[in-house]
Amino acid sequence: MIESSSAPRRARQYSGVLLSVVALIASIIAAPPAVRADDSAAVQRAKPSLPTKGLLPARIAVAHKAAIASAYPLASEAGQEILAAGGNAFDAAVAVSAALAVVEPSSSGLGGGGFYLLHRQSDGYETMLDAREKAPGAASRDMYLDKAGNPIEDASIAGALAAGIPGEPAAFEYLARKYGKLSLKRSLQPAIRLAREGFPLYARLQGGIRYKQKVLQRSPDAAKAFLSADGGVPEVGAIIKQPDLASTLEAIANQGAQGFYAGRVAADLVAGVRADGGIWTLQDLAAYRVIERKPLIGEYHGARIVSASPPSSGGIAVLDALNILSGFDLHRYDSATAKHLVIEAMRRAYRDRAIYLGDPDFVKMPLAQLASKDYAAGQRSSIRTDKAMPSDLLPGIESEPVGMQTTHFSVLDSDGNRVAATISVNLFFGTGYMPPRTGVLLNNTMDDFSTKPGRPNEFGLVGATANAIAPNKRSLSSMSPTFVETPKGVMIVGSPGGSYIISMVLLGTLNYLDGMNAADIVKYPHYHHQYLPDEVDYEQGALTDAEIKELQAMGHSLKVSGRRWGNMQVITWDYATGKVDAASDPRGEGVGLVY
Ligand code: DON
Repeated sequence: MIESSSAPRRARQYSGVLLSVVALIASIIAAPPAVRADDSAAVQRAKPSLPTKGLLPARIAVAHKAAIASAYPLASEAGQEILAAGGNAFDAAVAVSAALAVVEPSSSGLGGGGFYLLHRQSDGYETMLDAREKAPGAASRDMYLDKAGNPIEDASIAGALAAGIPGEPAAFEYLARKYGKLSLKRSLQPAIRLAREGFPLYARLQGGIRYKQKVLQRSPDAAKAFLSADGGVPEVGAIIKQPDLASTLEAIANQGAQGFYAGRVAADLVAGVRADGGIWTLQDLAAYRVIERKPLIGEYHGARIVSASPPSSGGIAVLDALNILSGFDLHRYDSATAKHLVIEAMRRAYRDRAIYLGDPDFVKMPLAQLASKDYAAGQRSSIRTDKAMPSDLLPGIESEPVGMQTTHFSVLDSDGNRVAATISVNLFFGTGYMPPRTGVLLNNTMDDFSTKPGRPNEFGLVGATANAIAPNKRSLSSMSPTFVETPKGVMIVGSPGGSYIISMVLLGTLNYLDGMNAADIVKYPHYHHQYLPDEVDYEQGALTDAEIKELQAMGHSLKVSGRRWGNMQVITWDYATGKVDAASDPRGEGVGLVY
């Protein structure tokens, strides 16, 4: 529902960091216990995490501020409101996610899912909430292929058949009930208000609406929410009101996850999906559960890396690349060679991602091997410091295409609890389809499966099988919410960007460990290699002319990217001084709040 606004309300911008006035020296808090499983959660999966031995967990000496970095100021402010009301980082995560569903509906929402990496400061407990979308029970391996076995164009990205069963509403209830201090109802208030009262359209969202205009026009409810009455693109500053979404959020606020996965909303979702050619059932919705999984934990030059575990490939790929790089002292090399080594590490990590990874509830994965230093040493031995290794010399298969939109946010509360959450509807506005009366845009995350498994390739079958479609399975993701912790401090990091997420988080990690501050980390120009296609993509400014020449001489094929990638949200916290920084990627219009 669009209202024009003659005087567009500008979202309040916070100029950034307020340093702690009084730094209270507190005694060093004893090392929290290693990650433990919480058997009380019926949905907990006690998967082995990777070795943590010898790594230093957080030690805090000085009082510090809370911080939130998200992709849009109104969402950061929603989290701030909840922290100010006495909520902790986990309550704030509910508020920020729900507000993003309203004000950044192109990137995430109730109709999507994602991963929430949590750290509870009181006992050091770390966990990952897997709220990834699930394939419907009637899904099948070849559902996007025609009779001849060829992919049906757009079948896995357009229309309700492309939508997995959403996980985000279940994560809201779970976060609030198990980890939060406030009621779910309280934490959802800012989002409900934003949906009901509206917010002013901003340029990036307008661009997304223009890009998806035709798709949105095909869904009357989506058109009513995001297009003007004549089906056009509203002007910047027009007030976007979403009363149906407000009602759905209210149902969740009043009834918990049941308000979405059962009752009137569920009935409308299933009816809408089926009317649009989808295969959801009420049973699919009723059966959806968030799964707590142990995060992946590794070490790089003394830093402790905590990241997303499968069905995200992010953590394993970041750790794999860091393990490969740990055998080099990158500072010893000239900048072109250092970047070459990072690219070669990316190439190998992405290859493993393509081959081995999938939903851990469906496939066995050699995670311990992939994350081991010995395996990395083997990978490293094939890297020459003066020459690119063509990807086709590494046995493997094609990896999947890059996605287009998603969102990440980071939260730190004043107790030291933290959240790194990357949530998504996959492509811009997901399918762009909104089942009538729900206000919920459906994801097209089914496209993250290998929609055509079994390619005739030596190792292709393995990878394709690991991430093949199956009923109730979660598709493999690149979303990589991560904590990077050293004895000096911690960084909470993540980004959207499809397959580029992993390389961005890798570069962000290396930059943090090199002493870069949060503002510089988020604006760093990226370069990326994902094994196949065998080329280095880079943003303008990521490589100097001299580096380009040297990398080409080593045999790298380079391609400057026409677009800017990512929307990284970083919080850093220095234990010694208590200084907290929050920064949002200047490629977007998000904001990092410290207060
Ligand atoms: O889970 C994944 O890997 C994708 N669905 C993420 C999509 C994405 O980041 C698109 N962003 N630009």
